[in-house]
Amino acid sequence: MSTNLFRYEQFGWDYERLNPIGERELSWYRRFAAEVGGPILELACGTGRLLTKIAEAGYQIDGVDLATTMLKLAERRIELLPPEIRSRIQLFNRDMTNLETGSTYNLIILADNSFRELQNRTSQRSCLKSVVACLSQYGKILITVRRFELTSYKDGKMSVPWSNPTRHPISGLMVRRKVEFHLSEDRTSESIVYFYKTVDANNQEIIEECQFQRPVMETSDYQSLFDAVGLTAEIYIDYSNKPDDGLDPVICFVCSRKV
Ligand SMILES: C[S@@+](CC[C@H](N)C(=O)[O-])C[C@H]1O[C@@H](n2cnc3c(N)ncnc32)[C@H](O)[C@@H]1O
Repeated sequence: MSTNLFRYEQFGWDYERLNPIGERELSWYRRFAAEVGGPILELACGTGRLLTKIAEAGYQIDGVDLATTMLKLAERRIELLPPEIRSRIQLFNRDMTNLETGSTYNLIILADNSFRELQNRTSQRSCLKSVVACLSQYGKILITVRRFELTSYKDGKMSVPWSNPTRHPISGLMVRRKVEFHLSEDRTSESIVYFYKTVDANNQEIIEECQFQRPVMETSDYQSLFDAVGLTAEIYIDYSNKPDDGLDPVICFVCSRKV
């Protein structure tokens, strides 16, 4: 397996609390949907927070994700939509490194750092090859990632303190979360640990840990990968049409086939 899904299977309920999607982000994706048209594929679609908005804007969209918990959350959200919008959406429980939806798409989206779920260059290359295989001739691929920023680390470490309490959607108990980041000595990956602290009905404190890895990637690493699979990329920042400044935390790649 190219990814560690434990975080999503066990703590998928927390994903959108940690990463709320903004109108600016949604507008950026909708702009490309309008420019390129459907059908659209969203890889690593998670809880469907983006996919459903694109379907609501009138496009046919397929979503792929490997974590069953995330797909269940997406299904629940889709069930609440009017039938006409629901009919434009299909979900697939697949590995994005080995697609085969049997369809061709004009727009393929890999949003919100999902590409960095893939731990090594082999799985990243396989994913991009799969994507290129189902991209129409003049189609576009949108990949958005967070920039790795070495200066955020002190002695190879960084942390986010305990959050305010939030209610667990199933147990109803109040949960607090903190996050620790550790950079590997060779600086090729970061190890991330989420701690979830719950106080149960007997006043017992329970701490659950969730650890996963993320590859450290520079803009040039993405470009080499795109090049290797026959793609060329325009690079923007912050869900805008501003070119990359090497600083902004959000990098937006707009890829197409090399001519
Ligand atoms: C950072 S979340 C992004 C969710 C979504 N793109 C969004 O913006 O809301 C990453 C998603 O990637 C999925 N994922 C991780 N590895 C995967 C793989 N190899 N194939 C398909 N999905 C994968 C996880 O289950 C998770 O839902």
